[in-house]
Amino acid sequence: MKSYQSKIKKAKNYLDNNCCIGVPTETVYGLAANAYIDSAVKKIFRLKKRPKNNPLIVHYLDIDSLKRDCLINDDFIKLYKKISPGPITYILKLKKDSRISKYVTNKKKSLAVRFPNHKIFRKLLRELNYPLAAPSANISTRLSAVQASDVKEEFGGKIEYVLDGGKCSVGLESTIINLINKPTILRLGGLNISKIKKILGKKIIFNINPKNKIAPGQSRLHYSPGIPLRMNVIKPKNGEAFNLIKKRKTKLKNYFYLSTKNNLDEAAKNLYTCLRKAKNKGYKSIAVEKIPDKGLGKAINDRLQRASRY
Ligand code: TXA
Ligand code: MG
Repeated sequence: MKSYQSKIKKAKNYLDNNCCIGVPTETVYGLAANAYIDSAVKKIFRLKKRPKNNPLIVHYLDIDSLKRDCLINDDFIKLYKKISPGPITYILKLKKDSRISKYVTNKKKSLAVRFPNHKIFRKLLRELNYPLAAPSANISTRLSAVQASDVKEEFGGKIEYVLDGGKCSVGLESTIINLINKPTILRLGGLNISKIKKILGKKIIFNINPKNKIAPGQSRLHYSPGIPLRMNVIKPKNGEAFNLIKKRKTKLKNYFYLSTKNNLDEAAKNLYTCLRKAKNKGYKSIAVEKIPDKGLGKAINDRLQRASRY
């Protein structure tokens, strides 16, 4: 634990000086900066090459720290009590006197907030007296980072520090739910929707592919490995990397296992790593076996569909 303390101290020092650093969460790594400081937040957009109109998620330790910046409601409290910290992001109303930088929200009146469930990240948040704005730590439209080395691959020497917290346990971005009016899912993600339905006990609206894009993570091209990708493949073409979810008898060099046991949680955890590997090994395209459209399989298929529009 002692070594963590020195890493956390280092991370805090960079953040206190308005730098932008890589941080681990249970979903994917984030590119974090002080959410209250304009100049720090602007660095995130520059590094990620992110359009200015795409607002950021702000990460808090707990509900008490959130109350300074957002208005909360009953649906939020129900979900917060049962599933936070965890892989869910809530859209709430921003308070008029909140200190959140206008660059975080693109001057919107709502804020995306998340309480990450990663031991080291939570220890870091406990040391800070400000929340952290953090999008996924990847260049815009590219694959998310699920380990410290991925973040370094994305940004090289352009960021000063990555707080290494090991490999992300979930491996997919958080599920996003707008709670300002009727609960509306804006992005499928690491938290199973059935859990949310059960807790809220009412109908949930889905708006994950709107014409009018509220969450640019909904944009058609996203999560791209940078090479063509095909879904629902039975047999790969010559020279194609093949992502599988069930063990095959034959062993081939181009096989990359998301899971060997048809386990969708495991497949989610390995998804970005397998895609990144295929790209880095020089394959010109990727084929993916059919993924069952249930549980986290729904979020995996959502990512693959967007990635396949390369
Ligand atoms: O798991 C995650 O959510 C990761 C980790 C680092 O927390 N973060 C992440 O951030 O995936 P990002 O920026 O890659 O995706 C956030 C999505 C974007 O699609 C953005 O448009 C949407 O959230 N978003 C942010 N603020 C919003 C708001 N006020 N209303 C609607 N959508 C919003
Ligand atoms: Mg992202």
